[in-house]
Amino acid sequence: MSILVTGAGGQLGMEWVKFLGRMGLEHHAMTSKDLDITNSGAVDLTLNRVKPEVVVNCAAYTDVDGAESDVEKALRVNRNGVGHLAEWCAGNSIPIIHYSTDYVFPGRKTDLVTYPDGYPEDGETDPVNRYGESKRAGEELLFEAGAPYLLIRVSWLCGEFGNNFVKTMLKLGNERDRIQVVKDQIGSPTYAASVVKLSHQLLQQGHKGIYHITSGGMISWYDFASEIFRMAGVNTVVEPVSTSEYPVKAPRPAFSKLDSSKISSTLSIQMEEWDEGLTELMNKLNA
Ligand SMILES: NC(=O)c1ccc[n+]([C@@H]2O[C@H](COP(=O)([O-])OP(=O)(O)OC[C@H]3O[C@@H](n4cnc5c(N)ncnc54)[C@H](OP(=O)(O)O)[C@@H]3O)[C@@H](O)[C@H]2O)c1
Repeated sequence: MSILVTGAGGQLGMEWVKFLGRMGLEHHAMTSKDLDITNSGAVDLTLNRVKPEVVVNCAAYTDVDGAESDVEKALRVNRNGVGHLAEWCAGNSIPIIHYSTDYVFPGRKTDLVTYPDGYPEDGETDPVNRYGESKRAGEELLFEAGAPYLLIRVSWLCGEFGNNFVKTMLKLGNERDRIQVVKDQIGSPTYAASVVKLSHQLLQQGHKGIYHITSGGMISWYDFASEIFRMAGVNTVVEPVSTSEYPVKAPRPAFSKLDSSKISSTLSIQMEEWDEGLTELMNKLNA
């Protein structure tokens, strides 16, 4: 089965490429330079040439704060780009795996009471910021296109490639004696390699539809940073701050947890806890 990966130079894209290489599966890794998904002509040309049997879309505009001032750019990639890929897949009856985010939900603190296990796949979307709006718009185009799809929402992604919170903390731990980290936003750090492995299992078993993939458990960014430093033996002091003390352009969700019980029962597995994924990642990073 030939798999084409878009956004192959990003955090999740590189993880997919590594996984497919290790499994000896035929694949075509397309970085943003190889294939710009906002260019519908280039999408058609490339996909007609490669003739993949599955498209995995890891391409996205992920600058959450940048999307507040340049929502058009976010929409071009996260909505239109998804539409181009999904239409080609629909026209060729090819399955597409597409990734989305917890930011399509409102992220209210009180939602923890309504959804103690996290937002379910059929929970009502109401994006928390412009980036979330652009990702939701992409989801809608995916549904409309009519290709067989797996829409996989993830959150707090951390892997060995690209940029993420763990790598940022390890860098700051080398540079600073103390840092401030937000304490009133909670979610589940999720290991990128596990996301790829589970996505591939869903594909292999022929599942379709929406799935949430996040680790078990829930913590704040502050507790996460503290655990990263503890595991790495870093002495940097972590000071808790509130969201209001740490102003950023885009509003962030107070509650980011996605309910992963659907994939858990579909694949008859138990989701790994966030600290198991973190341990594996720290070993990979030799931290
Ligand atoms: N990271 C997280 O915590 C997180 C959380 C929730 C959901 N997600 C979702 O998970 C998916 C993967 O995220 P990630 O962490 O791997 O993001 P990432 O590291 O920022 O990777 C995104 C990739 O998309 C590429 N890209 C951007 N515009 C493109 C275009 N027009 N055509 C083709 N490629 C383009 C980027 O290339 P350039 O660098 O060259 O622009 C980059 O390689 C995304 O759908 C994201 O929304 C991520």
